[in-house]
Amino acid sequence: MSWVTRDVMDDLNEAAGRRWRELDPMLPVSRDLPEECRVPLVVAGVNGHPAGFGVCRHQYVPDGALEQVWGTATRLVLTPRLREPDAYPALDELLGQWRDHLASLPEAGEEDSAAMIEWPSRDITGVNALLKHGMQAITVIAVRPAGRAMLLADSGTPADVVIRAAGPDDLHAVTELEMGVIRFDAHFGAAILRPATEALVREATRKALARRQAWVWVAERNGRLVGLVHVLPPDESAWIAGMTRPGTTAYLQSMFAMPDERGGGLGAALVKHAHDELDARGISITLLHYAQLNPLSGPFWSRMGYRPLWTGYQSRPAVALR
Ligand SMILES: CC(C)(COP(=O)(O)OP(=O)(O)OC[C@H]1O[C@@H](n2cnc3c(N)ncnc32)[C@H](O)[C@@H]1OP(=O)(O)O)[C@@H](O)C(=O)NCCC(=O)NCCS
Repeated sequence: MSWVTRDVMDDLNEAAGRRWRELDPMLPVSRDLPEECRVPLVVAGVNGHPAGFGVCRHQYVPDGALEQVWGTATRLVLTPRLREPDAYPALDELLGQWRDHLASLPEAGEEDSAAMIEWPSRDITGVNALLKHGMQAITVIAVRPAGRAMLLADSGTPADVVIRAAGPDDLHAVTELEMGVIRFDAHFGAAILRPATEALVREATRKALARRQAWVWVAERNGRLVGLVHVLPPDESAWIAGMTRPGTTAYLQSMFAMPDERGGGLGAALVKHAHDELDARGISITLLHYAQLNPLSGPFWSRMGYRPLWTGYQSRPAVALR
């Protein structure tokens, strides 16, 4: 295996950032390397110049953390930085080295573990290497710059439906709608229901509904809540804002319509309401996750003005990486 200095890593990081920006103007210029950077896996290039490297971070999400619902408890996350326009050869080599590294980690064999990579969706040259090594696309981070057009049915808000801000009195019904998203996404590997999930969601919802300014909107029909859109304000979205270019970034956390209400424009009306509010609050970029295999969400978000930015690939358990 080759070896690199921190300077060479910084240089490769910048080169990868430039490459991303050429592929997709909504990607960040460059990203900070993980702080807890261990010895990187290095791909040798020509004339002694490395073609790239990857840093493997070992994350353990504890029982009782709400985040455990959005993935496995043990997450072995590779951050690759590759220089060449065609990512395939270097990524193939890097994934082989990573597989050998994971084979040496006992936790990589645990059922509740995953090997994970966020890959720029438009960097199509790497996809076959990811598939060859047994990784599957599970999630998408989609992006919408403010003002991007939505494709709306003409009908506006469905009859007898009122869209309004949610408040503390809606705790029970909003928790149910939030759980609806999780139960739905659990079919596609994007969410994993845990014994503690419902109590943790209720607690997070209680906090969200207590914000001074509302960021949760609901659709109400005859006194029953039938739809939800929940956005995290910029100060709660910093954890993901670095995945896109600089801006005032908000994260759309949840979106749900009751099954008997779908297909009549309720979802679109809720999103339009949220976008109007976000525009008025100066939000310049909105990010969200959807499950790649969810048959409803991808087409829906596309019509709402979102498109893929990063694709989250995983192999489960982590040791299943080939
Ligand atoms: C995604 C979701 C929120 C969309 O809500 P919705 O109320 O069904 O959304 P809309 O009615 O605006 O759009 C859905 C479809 O109805 C169509 N439609 C909208 N208004 C219509 C109308 N007035 N007449 C006929 N069809 C209409 C849309 O064109 C769209 O068509 P498509 O199925 O070909 O894509 C909903 O399907 C849902 O809750 N899914 C489960 C949870 C989920 O996936 N959440 C997103 C996680 S990221």
